[in-house]
Amino acid sequence: MAFVTTKQMMALADRGGYAIGAFNVENMEMVKAVIKAAEQMEAPVILQTTPSTVKYAGLSLYYANVKAAAENVKVPVALHLDHGNSYGLAIQAMYTGYTSVMIDGSKELLEENIALTKRVVDACSAVGVPVEAELGKVGGKEDDSECNDPGYTEPEDAVRFVAETGVQSLAVAIGTAHGIYKGEPKLDVDRLSEIRKRVDVPLVLHGASGVPAELVQECIRRGISKVNFATELRIAYSEGLKEYLKKDPNVFDPKKYGAAAMGYVTELVCQKIALCGSQGKA
Ligand code: 13P
Repeated sequence: MAFVTTKQMMALADRGGYAIGAFNVENMEMVKAVIKAAEQMEAPVILQTTPSTVKYAGLSLYYANVKAAAENVKVPVALHLDHGNSYGLAIQAMYTGYTSVMIDGSKELLEENIALTKRVVDACSAVGVPVEAELGKVGGKEDDSECNDPGYTEPEDAVRFVAETGVQSLAVAIGTAHGIYKGEPKLDVDRLSEIRKRVDVPLVLHGASGVPAELVQECIRRGISKVNFATELRIAYSEGLKEYLKKDPNVFDPKKYGAAAMGYVTELVCQKIALCGSQGKA
């Protein structure tokens, strides 16, 4: 049984100078593929679902899939609500059995983001579920949610936000964006160091698909303890499936192309775990 919260794994990563890979999953195949990679790499891992993914199949289905898969492995596995977009959804995820919750009030004004996050933290801490929040705005498109006016996290605001909300981890906006980058992303890593110096909770990097490996590692060196990957997994899954169907267009057994898609995702996740430095940390 290795179904755990994100609290201890992130605290250990924070102290150990590496990061936990957090991978967005959409279906049973992706769940299995990510957990298989974590097992192969002996790495703690976070699987996460966004609100649009939850809309697709329901919180309980992802919970049941991840819990069942986690029970068969020795590595620590956490299930996290990514970009929870309302108090209600955050609380439902907690009740369903998610072991970690993000409330994303980053579109709100600072005061409102603080108030919303604090409400979720108060409810979740009663049952020991850690909460991630976002301050500043990560740009780009993540499922149904699009941000066209990104804004960097102000270190001073981060200090106040963490003190007033009691949040367990903080997603920072330093120039990454969700989805595909048009050019090479330019990250404000000095801002990250400044936030790290002033805030003592683990920090989270969103929008890591397409960020060059050295840049992700630089962010980890400067204090990131959780790195989110979604778009690259979706691409890998789709590529695996398309390749299989191209080779054998007459196939009608979903297990066949499902296995091919899983193989692509597992391979990618192993690479990302190595990049995060969490290999062998289970
Ligand atoms: P990418 O889609 O850019 O990997 O971002 C993932 C993410 O931050 C999920 O919250």
